[in-house]
Amino acid sequence: MKVSIIGGGGLVGSCAGFALQCGAVAREITLIDVNQELAEGQALDILHGSPSVADQIISFGSYEHIPSSDIVCITAGLRRKPDETRLDLINRNTDLFVQILADVKAAGLKPSAKVLVVSNPVDILTYVAAKRLGLPETQVLGLGTQLDSIRFCSLIAQAMKVPPTQTKALILGEHGDSMVPIWSSATVGGLPLEKYPGWTPASASQLFKRTQGSGAEVIRGKGGAGFAVGIAIRDVIEAIILNRRQILPVSSVQSGCYGIRDVALSVPTVVGSCGAIDRLEIELWPKEMQGLRNSANSLRPTLDAVLQRIGGV
Ligand code: 2OP
Repeated sequence: MKVSIIGGGGLVGSCAGFALQCGAVAREITLIDVNQELAEGQALDILHGSPSVADQIISFGSYEHIPSSDIVCITAGLRRKPDETRLDLINRNTDLFVQILADVKAAGLKPSAKVLVVSNPVDILTYVAAKRLGLPETQVLGLGTQLDSIRFCSLIAQAMKVPPTQTKALILGEHGDSMVPIWSSATVGGLPLEKYPGWTPASASQLFKRTQGSGAEVIRGKGGAGFAVGIAIRDVIEAIILNRRQILPVSSVQSGCYGIRDVALSVPTVVGSCGAIDRLEIELWPKEMQGLRNSANSLRPTLDAVLQRIGGV
């Protein structure tokens, strides 16, 4: 399958391209960027590693690649400043994103194409993309809290000194300040986290707080996240390509899961070749359920403001 990454010249897009190369599942990776020279340089740098990884087609270009793309990943957008929330970013990014959607639609998407939105604020922009691209809404996903969830697992594993690959814990809701830690189903090696030797509830809030602030923490250190975002993007895209039916916390327009409607946020989603195959209402603690509803409510005012600003969907 062919994956085109809009914003592929930038930090997030190029890390996504590199992660997909290392995963060796995508058959073709195309980097699209307004800065063609940068996209060309990133593509060449990725190409140079191909003899040691996989026989993939690595290319760069513009929207002429859209009609032949099976998956279009949109990473383009301005990055947050350390003290800026993802929602603050909306006005600066909305106009750019709406133009990208228009260009993608004009270029022509395959009816079976899936679109993965990464640009922030991702839940707001995922909703707009799902409504404007003319694809079935379940074919438009947002990276959502998949990134937050792997960050969460990495920090829990580091604190507990356990293998990160055996640490499973979900973050749901908004990819933003109202994200919700799901401790009720967190496990290490299949054992409930709260029963794992060495776990102390006191560390729970500190670990979640650090997860919540991880985006800003990385921005303060290196200007913007790239590596883990690329991995999270690869997780979703390879689940689509391989039709894994993998349960991932990705963003999509909700139509009743947990009683949430007409807003995009992350719930446990079965991801496969047709995008969001199903959304699962796994059992949550009452405070987790409330957190999820709060997340939906906190997104709505900004969503309404954006829809008003862009003249609706
Ligand atoms: C982050 O949390 C880019 O929103 C992304 O780092």
